[in-house]
Amino acid sequence: MASKFTLLLLPLLAYIVNAQAPATFDIGNFGGKPDGNIAEALSCAWKEACAATTPSTIVVPKGTFMLDQVKLLGPCKAPIELQVQGTIKAPSDYNTMSDKNAEWITINYVDHLTVQGGGVFDGNGHEAWTQNDCGKNPKCAKLPLNLSFNFVTNSIIRDVTTKDSKYFHVNVIGCKNVTFQRFTVSAPGDSINTDGLHIAKSEYINITDCVIKTGDDCISIGDGMKELHIEKVTCGPGHGISVGSLGKGETEEDVTGIYVKNCTFIGTQNATLKITDLHYEDIIMDNVENPIIIDQEYCPWNQCKLDSPSLIQVSQMTVKNIKGTTKTPVAMTFACSKTKPCQNVEIGDIDLAYSGTEGPITTKCANINPTFVGKQNPPICTDAAPAA
Ligand SMILES: *[C@@H]1O[C@H](CO)[C@@H](O)[C@H](O)[C@H]1NC(C)=O
Ligand SMILES: *[C@@H]1O[C@H](CO)[C@@H](O)[C@H](O)[C@H]1NC(C)=O
Ligand SMILES: *[C@@H]1O[C@H](CO)[C@@H](O)[C@H](O)[C@H]1NC(C)=O
Ligand SMILES: *[C@@H]1O[C@H](CO)[C@@H](O)[C@H](O)[C@H]1NC(C)=O
Repeated sequence: MASKFTLLLLPLLAYIVNAQAPATFDIGNFGGKPDGNIAEALSCAWKEACAATTPSTIVVPKGTFMLDQVKLLGPCKAPIELQVQGTIKAPSDYNTMSDKNAEWITINYVDHLTVQGGGVFDGNGHEAWTQNDCGKNPKCAKLPLNLSFNFVTNSIIRDVTTKDSKYFHVNVIGCKNVTFQRFTVSAPGDSINTDGLHIAKSEYINITDCVIKTGDDCISIGDGMKELHIEKVTCGPGHGISVGSLGKGETEEDVTGIYVKNCTFIGTQNATLKITDLHYEDIIMDNVENPIIIDQEYCPWNQCKLDSPSLIQVSQMTVKNIKGTTKTPVAMTFACSKTKPCQNVEIGDIDLAYSGTEGPITTKCANINPTFVGKQNPPICTDAAPAA
């Protein structure tokens, strides 16, 4: 009687335990060792975890692990978690990476992915930055990105750090419903092209409670971005949040529904560029160069013709409750396109002081006719050419 009961109960218990705790795939069990290259161990652990029909967790334990390059591909059969507790480090010389055209860590076609664990993705980019001549050479060799998420859906990336990427830290393309929470990006202010997050062709992306310190844009938004909520993000050093460089081709998709709320910019250069349905609210600027800049004449690296009219229409934009200090005497620039003037722009409750000494604080406006709410300090667009 008792033995029969036990026989019945044990599988039931095992089933309950299994249903509660996801199966764990520790890279140590796949030959991953501290200070060794874990590419193969991580790939093997991923393959098994991804094939599992119940939720699974891949663990990179505490310690420092070298990783040459890896592609983690879905679709997976059940939700999957990548738990990084330690530091995963890239080779310092990207020439040793087997596929120089691919990113360091690529995660593609995964639904219900969680990346967490408090660990660090260390791009080890110091050497690569010295070789990057993209500022001068438009045909420069592309350096590898740190982390690339493509076609990832219903996922969350939190409590991890990416540091010292050789190029953009994180690339997000074709993703939907993905949250970056308590995500840290860390690279020196003078590192080249180390954008924090570059996001394009994606929908419903949230970036909250993040700290982004880097040498280029904290967050850069490319074409086809819809519904991006950036909240409680501290950015700086870096170049702020940018939307662009769009308008190089007619085939680009619209950017719409960008919300930047309750963020802090510290010592950044240019807190914005271009676009539609863009809302910039409750922002603290701390000694920022060009705190607000909508510049349709913007032309990075001379890759566009300055005399060709911008293809971009900036409309439905609110810039509200912006306080703090500007490092440049020009506090705000709204240089809208002559052929496509900015439309439906609301500006209000601005209180910016100039922290320097080179003349009075001013704003620059062209081809814009904003509506104002609340108080503006300094006065805004008193020089505006009328919008057509
Ligand atoms: C978005 O993703 C989260 C995290 O996986 C999930 O809980 C939520 O249900 C998803 N939302 C939608 C609308 O699918
Ligand atoms: C993203 O943020 C918006 C606005 O705060 C919120 O409505 C939405 O539910 C969030 N989505 C996720 C997946 O957390
Ligand atoms: C901004 O976020 C902080 C927490 O980071 C919160 O205390 C504060 O109330 C928020 N402010 C607004 C205007 O939402
Ligand atoms: C910031 O704006 C200024 C003025 O338009 C421009 O010269 C500079 O290149 C911009 N910097 C970045 C990083 O976008």
